Amino acid sequence: MYKLLKPLERRGTSCSKWDGLAERFGDADLHAMWVADMDFKEPQCVTDALLRHISSTALGYYLTPDSYYDAFMDWESSRHGYQLQREWICFAPGVVPALHWLVECLTRPGDGIMVLTPVYYPFFGAVKDHGRRLVECDLINDGGRFTIDFERVESTIKQQDVKALIFCSPHNPVGRAWTRQELGTLTEICKRHGVLILSDEIHGDFVYRAEGHHPTATCAPDPERVITLCSASKTFNLAGMKNAFVIIPDREMREKYQGYLACICEGSGCSLGYIAYTAAYRGGGEWLEELKGAIMENYAYLLDAFRREAPGVVVSPLEGTYLCCLDLGAYIKGEQMQEFLQKKCRLALDYGEWFGGERFATLARMNLATSLDNVRIGVDAIVRELKKLP
Ligand SMILES: Cc1ncc(COP(=O)(O)O)c(C=O)c1O
Repeated sequence: MYKLLKPLERRGTSCSKWDGLAERFGDADLHAMWVADMDFKEPQCVTDALLRHISSTALGYYLTPDSYYDAFMDWESSRHGYQLQREWICFAPGVVPALHWLVECLTRPGDGIMVLTPVYYPFFGAVKDHGRRLVECDLINDGGRFTIDFERVESTIKQQDVKALIFCSPHNPVGRAWTRQELGTLTEICKRHGVLILSDEIHGDFVYRAEGHHPTATCAPDPERVITLCSASKTFNLAGMKNAFVIIPDREMREKYQGYLACICEGSGCSLGYIAYTAAYRGGGEWLEELKGAIMENYAYLLDAFRREAPGVVVSPLEGTYLCCLDLGAYIKGEQMQEFLQKKCRLALDYGEWFGGERFATLARMNLATSLDNVRIGVDAIVRELKKLP
């Protein structure tokens, strides 16, 4: 039984994950295990802080309180060993909008921007929607464990004249938590070729090894060329609060970004977001540890069920994130995945194809930030339907 975690029925609450099924999958009655949003209430300390704020003051224009920056800087330093300076931290209402704006103000039309595929699909829009050139470099898939093909990264940077890399750490959807050595090699290559790194570390609080997450900037030979994007939205299930951190150590790039924000009148966020994030970083640590334990328990169930009942399912090791990457290619052809998962299993999972095209079509991403009962429904449905195949 959970001590601090409170599983929630979220249907009927305008929740994208459940109430957005018809729009995204054309079927409202699927079992939702897709978008990275949890079926747990946020930590109690966050609810309490929001209620206190709402009942004690007006909801007028709001300054960003020092306590918000302090709480985040303390969290980054104590959890990830990243010592931040207050002036480096800029605002965005989300990591995805920040990626769009960084691309817009720090690169030029036609510039090559690299992503390591398969990867979180909004990265593609952050490049293509701004008239930049999308340069894809596939990770190496070694039996479900994905690694970076450093030689290919370097040769592609040279051949395609790459100016920036949008990097995901830990990596969604393949669940890798990159090692210090991998991050050191990658950042060294980027330095050699003057490639700016936009490092999306929104899942950084979900790394399951003892030493935790390594911020890319802390492994880089030139940390001022790494812009880090973080948020409490994944960590504490607060995506509706619309708040993210954009860490820009270099003054010139920071001024460009802030000038851009001023142009689009996006200077600061909603007061409730500041209150929620501050409370979460100050008081949510124990809740997060329980959550990570629950995710690992869910993952253990999934691994065991597939090993015993459907050993051809390749499960990527879940080193980071709460999103588990499955490869059903031993049983299902890419073009049959939708029919299998939606029509037969009645599940809504993120399709591999979304993360970079047909070559990933036998992959599917299952969200494990939910109750064990919900994970059982998803895993058992896949096992049951695989067993029925001729
Ligand atoms: C890697 C990654 N980046 C960014 C986001 C979304 O961030 P935001 O809601 O802050 O735009 C997600 C959500 O799933 C994600 O997985």
